[in-house]
Amino acid sequence: MTAEEAASLIKNNDIIGLSGFTATGCPQAVPTALAKRAEEEHAKGKPFKVGMYTGASTGESADGVLARAKAIKFRSPYQSHPDSRAGLNNHDMEYFDLHLSELPQYLRYGFLPKPDFAILEVCDLSDDGKAVLTSAVGISPTIAHLADKIIIELNHYHPKELLGLHDIYEPLDPPYRREIPVYSPSDRIGSPYVQLDPEKVVGVVETRLPTEISPFTPLDEVTAQIGRNVANFLCNEIKAGRIPASFLPVQSGVGNVANAVLGAMGMNKEIPAFEIYTEVIQDSVIELMKENRVKFASGCSLSLTTPVLEAVYANWNTYKEQLLLRPQEISNNPEIARRLGLIAINTALEVDIFGHVNSTHVMGSKMMNGIGGSGDFCRNAALSIFTAPSTAKGGKISAIVPMVSHVDHSEHSVKVMITEHGVADLRGLSPVQRAESIIENCADPDYKDLLRKYLQMGVKGHTPQNVNAALAFHSVFLKTGDMREVNWSDYK
Ligand code: COA
Repeated sequence: MTAEEAASLIKNNDIIGLSGFTATGCPQAVPTALAKRAEEEHAKGKPFKVGMYTGASTGESADGVLARAKAIKFRSPYQSHPDSRAGLNNHDMEYFDLHLSELPQYLRYGFLPKPDFAILEVCDLSDDGKAVLTSAVGISPTIAHLADKIIIELNHYHPKELLGLHDIYEPLDPPYRREIPVYSPSDRIGSPYVQLDPEKVVGVVETRLPTEISPFTPLDEVTAQIGRNVANFLCNEIKAGRIPASFLPVQSGVGNVANAVLGAMGMNKEIPAFEIYTEVIQDSVIELMKENRVKFASGCSLSLTTPVLEAVYANWNTYKEQLLLRPQEISNNPEIARRLGLIAINTALEVDIFGHVNSTHVMGSKMMNGIGGSGDFCRNAALSIFTAPSTAKGGKISAIVPMVSHVDHSEHSVKVMITEHGVADLRGLSPVQRAESIIENCADPDYKDLLRKYLQMGVKGHTPQNVNAALAFHSVFLKTGDMREVNWSDYK
């Protein structure tokens, strides 16, 4: 059927679940037609909104069009499109920010309403319901079996030869759950396709649409230096015997900084060729595979820019031995992160001097993207590193603050903080020692004195926080546009 016919099956207030993870593997034609339908209904003065579950963020043809059409009632678990961000910050839609590994079990447990429709992008589909996904898995297996109806986008842009890329496995629910038998990143434990109930498939829409991954910001000196600092720190950990000489599997977060960090790790030949167990496989992973610096990558999506994805497909026989995509419940699973002993490297928006990390909220209130998989990994990894440029917005914002304006990861999960200035190794340090290490090693020189003075102003106690001044960096920025304007004498 056409995308418009498929979209016409979806009613106001229905809940849809989409395949994919980031703007890859995600249906595009049906969500676009749905957005058009919502606009038409709104023009007639009629309500039209749907609830939406996804693997993670989606691109222009799902979050973008639907957010602009004001067609989303609620949304979980992650987004990063500017229009979706604006929509949820304006309360046009409700947003439930959730650890990505948890969404499938939240749905199965009934913590969230089940989807009415699963809309899945596939590269191949058999009459008996064997669906081969495309460049991501996300929540597809769970929504396929929970939804009442399934709409398929058969996207011929992705080759059928992707059969074998995916490892589809859903754990049983308690009290029947057993260990998930992944003992190394390349272990396969499931099926290469999602088994659908053919009776549920109400329509198949054929497309030929490329994925919508945005190019990365070119590497600048700050991100390059953060990458070198991470790589040098990890070399020292090997020398100290805290990371085995054979290394440990790496999880690397989303965004520009994460992409640069992996690149720098690849360039440092003191780090042996390594394996990746992560959620998003970004461009830098493929570059490192070409140079034999990454041996294998298990993830949830090939979040590759178009030229890189097309080069991978053109050389599929080489890459298929080195790549594996899993549902996010498995790629981000806490049990597996702990068992494999991951080195987790994620990016913070801001970190406070006591080691709490804010990954999500600008100035405590405006949602950026979401927690994503950062909590799944950082809490459970063998070694959890957070990185960030020490300042944002040309130095007017310090990423190192007295107290974070929102907490995603607490002092108990954050083991190492790295900026372009250096490394604060927080393992085994008391709050005051952590503060001294973060200020001296990670803060920008423009902010060091302000932070040192804040520490002295702290109320005596185990953690010398000063509740009258803890958010002064943020409140002064909101008033003057520059955190450097803080004057501690105003807080005495
Ligand atoms: N206050 C306000 N804005 C800030 C800021 C702060 N403390 N720190 C960064 N920013 C802004 C930057 O200026 C930039 O803005 P711009 O887009 O207008 O230029 C934007 O945030 C992104 O910063 P950038 O330095 O380019 O980082 P990034 O692309 O590496 O993304 C996160 C950083 C934190 C937004 C991103 O990693 C994220 O969403 N993380 C949460 C999810 C996660 O960690 N998933 C990984 C699990 S695998």
